[in-house]
Amino acid sequence: MRRSVVFHILLLCQCWTWAHSEADSEAAQTVAQGLQAEIQGVEINQAESTRETNDTVDLWAELKELRDMTIELKTDLKHYLSRIEVLEEEKLGLEVKISSIEKEMEGIKRENAELENTLNIVKSEVEALKSKNMALEARMTTNEKEVEEIRREYEDQPKVVFSTALTSGYFGPFNTDVTLKFSKVFINFGQGYNPSTGFFTAPVKGIYYFRYTLLEKRKDMSLGIHLFHNGKHVMGSFEVSDGSHESISNAIILQLEQGDEVYMNLLSNHGLYDDGNNYTTFSGFLLFPL
Ligand SMILES: *[C@@H]1O[C@H](CO)[C@@H](O)[C@H](O)[C@H]1NC(C)=O
Ligand SMILES: *[C@@H]1O[C@H](CO)[C@@H](O)[C@H](O)[C@H]1NC(C)=O
Repeated sequence: MRRSVVFHILLLCQCWTWAHSEADSEAAQTVAQGLQAEIQGVEINQAESTRETNDTVDLWAELKELRDMTIELKTDLKHYLSRIEVLEEEKLGLEVKISSIEKEMEGIKRENAELENTLNIVKSEVEALKSKNMALEARMTTNEKEVEEIRREYEDQPKVVFSTALTSGYFGPFNTDVTLKFSKVFINFGQGYNPSTGFFTAPVKGIYYFRYTLLEKRKDMSLGIHLFHNGKHVMGSFEVSDGSHESISNAIILQLEQGDEVYMNLLSNHGLYDDGNNYTTFSGFLLFPL
């Protein structure tokens, strides 16, 4: 009898432990109720055998002890159940946190990928700019060389220009053509013009520009000249003065060989005038060499 009761109680305790370990509050409740019923049954049996041996009395005491244990265990169980609830809540909270962290990580990964893309684009743009830069540098070097060449060409290019005035007072008329010697030299770069002969001699082969302006202020005096290239008459001007400062001008562009000569003759029976005001002038320059 005693053994069987002890066995039952042990079995119940075992079940209770399982229920406890599984943290199943309903099952634990059922086990606790069953245990309660068992204890009550044992109590009845015990009451029936009060007059039996001291073994029975011992068993009764054990049972009481077991009931106390049961109560204690119930208390513990409640405590554990409430802790489990708290832990489950905490677990839920942690899960929420984890999922939000996971979302954030996804976002960060996406941003990272976008940044990588952007970086790649920027890298290729930088590469493109580098090669453009190299091309530009190459072009610049070429340009610099060309500019240097042009500068050298320009520096090496002969520079020829003259500008003169006659300063003769009244000049002519003569009974023959007379070469005009423009004695006032404003500029004579390249020394092409000779004021003592009145001849311009081309220092280099090239295209030259010549011009003159002549004045006469004597009444009814004819003003007339011819311009010569190597003795050949190539241009002229003519005017009859009415006594109030008649002026004539003309210009020509000629291709000259080196050493070619250009000069002006006052025609016979013609006159002209000049003074410190530089009315009568002759000038020319090299447009470009050939
Ligand atoms: C039964 O228990 C009582 C109290 O402990 C004791 O005095 C008595 O001698 C016991 N009887 C037997 C037969 O052991
Ligand atoms: C004419 O030329 C001379 C010499 O260069 C100059 O001194 C003079 O001032 C010029 N005359 C006028 C009116 O500019």
